[in-house]
Amino acid sequence: MKKVIRGGTVVTAADTYRADVLIEGERITAIGSELQADGAEEIDAAGCYVLPGGIDPHTHLDMPFGGTVTADDFFTGTKAAAFGGTTSIIDFCLTKKGETLRSAIATWHEKARGKAVIDYGFHLMIAEANDQVLDELESVVSTEGITSLKVFMAYKNVFQADDETLFKTLVRARELGALVQVHAENGDVLDYLTKKALAEGNTAPIYHALTRPPEAEGEATGRAIALTALADAQLYVVHVSCAAAVQRIAEARERGLNVYGETCPQYLALDITALEKPDFEGAKYVWSPPLREKWNQDVLWNALKNGILQTVGSDHCAFNFFGQKELGRDDFTRIPNGGPLIEDRLAILYSEGVRQGRISLNQFVDVCSTKAAKLFGMFPRKGTIAVGSDADVVIFDPRVKRTLSAQTHHMNVDYNPFEGMEVYGEVVSVLSRGAFVVRNKQFVGLAGAGQFIKRAAFERP
Ligand code: URP
Ligand code: ZN
Ligand code: ZN
Ligand code: ZN
Repeated sequence: MKKVIRGGTVVTAADTYRADVLIEGERITAIGSELQADGAEEIDAAGCYVLPGGIDPHTHLDMPFGGTVTADDFFTGTKAAAFGGTTSIIDFCLTKKGETLRSAIATWHEKARGKAVIDYGFHLMIAEANDQVLDELESVVSTEGITSLKVFMAYKNVFQADDETLFKTLVRARELGALVQVHAENGDVLDYLTKKALAEGNTAPIYHALTRPPEAEGEATGRAIALTALADAQLYVVHVSCAAAVQRIAEARERGLNVYGETCPQYLALDITALEKPDFEGAKYVWSPPLREKWNQDVLWNALKNGILQTVGSDHCAFNFFGQKELGRDDFTRIPNGGPLIEDRLAILYSEGVRQGRISLNQFVDVCSTKAAKLFGMFPRKGTIAVGSDADVVIFDPRVKRTLSAQTHHMNVDYNPFEGMEVYGEVVSVLSRGAFVVRNKQFVGLAGAGQFIKRAAFERP
């Protein structure tokens, strides 16, 4: 089955140009002007951008957390992702101490099976780096195609690992060609500060932010970088929220270390004052790391622009306000951490980034798609519009102005943290490996059509 997308402007991380795109089966087979395409289905993209599908390198679907389970599963979450122009996600596969990696991975495959409407990969959490785990990692990387490993430096007594685990993981990752990811906050410091706040009767959502100071993120980021240098390994810092962490990453890159960073739309466009909203509404804005003072936003945008940070992930971790966020009404430490963003990532980056002149159109594609494909072993199959690449294509109309809202979003959650925000740009149609998932703003995808992406090992630049 052939399709040809005509009249649009192809945008990649490198170029912007008018061209038609021919798709045969699952791949892009030609790009050029006025392509001959006998028998092909004609798709009109006049006035629109033709973008490589977004790659969201940070999602939490169907994940048990904070005494509950995230509200989007692999069907509702990937469907919402597609509506927002994302055609691949990498979800975090949790593990527990004492459990084999194989069993944890099987559990995550089971969550996605028959549900995902777009392609997906997994990052693997490392809870404890014992001999069995370090041994098993070889087949995880080479056979399972899971080539990124996540270590939590926070969430004490839940996910938090110690420096021994982080260091052993880095050393093994260097041997196997895996990229190590860290949630960088000093969990011991946060544990002390949160207990102290509660003991003093400070239970409101704002204390979530006040007990997780920026320097606790800066310190952990710096420590992870130091251990990475010692292990001669490679590091990717997830959800960077503040100047203190950006500064550590900038210094590391200046030294030539293989250190990369991701930020998220919430840190670029929201700030700490949201946690002070009345009637417990601040709970909707509880992320870890927390939202920061507004001035940090400029630092993050500049870091994206200057290549200090490479990617924007959604950290999609959706909990309903009613019934889930509410668990923490009397105690901010019981508010499930995270928010719904899998759908609005591209809209916010295009509107706040490109339209506001903070990043270029090509940088928008780079941080929302291409860089993640490169860092996580999917390029050039994913992350670009090129002959031979998967036909993961988004037709994006930059002229449309619309309002983000829980009334119209497709995420399975009862609020939108960006409620009422006006954005430019609308996803018109989305193809995943040559098949429509969204067509003229209607969902036409299929549960289970998304395939697991076996990713290549990390390659040093
Ligand atoms: O608040 C957050 N970020 N929730 C998701 C889990 C994590 O730490 O990434
Ligand atoms: Zn498997
Ligand atoms: Zn995290
Ligand atoms: Zn996360």
